[in-house]
Amino acid sequence: MSLQSIKYADFKLEILDQLLLPVQSKFISVKGVEDGWKVINKMQVRGAPAIAIVGCLSLAVEIYPEKFDSKKSLRQEIEGKLNYLVSARPTAVNMKIAADELIALANELTKNEQCTVEDMKSRFLAATEAMLEKDIDDNKAIGSNGAAAILKKYSKETSVRVLTHCNTGSLATAGYGTALGVVRKLHELKKLEHVYCTETRPYNQGARLTAFELVHDKLPATLVLDSMVAALLRAKNIGAVVVGADRVAANGDTANKIGTYQIAVVAKHHDVPFYVAAPLTSIDFQIPSGDHIIIEERPDREMTHVGEHRIAAPGINCWNPAFDVTPAALITGIITEVGVYSPTKLKEEIQGLQNV
Ligand code: MRU
Repeated sequence: MSLQSIKYADFKLEILDQLLLPVQSKFISVKGVEDGWKVINKMQVRGAPAIAIVGCLSLAVEIYPEKFDSKKSLRQEIEGKLNYLVSARPTAVNMKIAADELIALANELTKNEQCTVEDMKSRFLAATEAMLEKDIDDNKAIGSNGAAAILKKYSKETSVRVLTHCNTGSLATAGYGTALGVVRKLHELKKLEHVYCTETRPYNQGARLTAFELVHDKLPATLVLDSMVAALLRAKNIGAVVVGADRVAANGDTANKIGTYQIAVVAKHHDVPFYVAAPLTSIDFQIPSGDHIIIEERPDREMTHVGEHRIAAPGINCWNPAFDVTPAALITGIITEVGVYSPTKLKEEIQGLQNV
């Protein structure tokens, strides 16, 4: 069984503290929205889908014991607190999309005269709880769609070597993972020869988290440093790169963990297909291109120190953007739970499906 980073039952929420991994596996309790905001902002929980799920469940945990005298006051609480949770980290869009959907639900229930305040609360809580299961189902569909897309150009006997970046697995989602879900599916199909994961400086999601998942799940895997990607693609016959996304713009430009863009450039040079695996909740059709994505900048300390140990010269200036934007032209396909799309057709085809 793969790892679990979010434990939730009966309005009790715990998350695996990812700042302590891989040395220590410790769950911490999230008792409400203030805790939810802090664990997201401090990156004790991270990864676009996990951020949204933990944010929304932290509100469910807070609202559950409360009594509301009117639907209006419940609606105001939902809207205010969800918007606050969106502010914890700016780049991943999943929390914002989840917040907009839940606020729309609260507005609809407020207007519905048949619905009591208790009904409204139950409907809201059920909608947040449903996110956990839906995320796992979506990831499994992403895994199957992605594995099929990657294997399409190979004969039935061939196994592939894949490169991934950052952490997109069970630790970044409710379970199974997006890009790592594709890797997992290839392994289930016995078509994964090997997966290489990057260290992913400076926060080391690859070395600390993805490597931890790959060892735990006994997948054939090797860690490489970010600076080795070009050499790896030249030397190791990599069949595909597959990464996750924090926000995909309407034209297919994709924000993901810093370093993704340079991997895409190198993949293009080596003619290696470069896939982005992301649920529909990571796609922001409201922005036309990646130029509109706000890139979070993180503290210098993440670059100057490893744990408590300083590695950079004291006094040096740092620039620490947590994400970069890969232009759509470098992306072979965007793997979603409903299919794999060329970035140029993403908007047209997905909105076509949604209008059916
Ligand atoms: O800063 P992080 O660790 O939250 O960044 C995570 C990533 O960039 C992931 O690739 C992305 O969120 C997709 S997770 C399924």
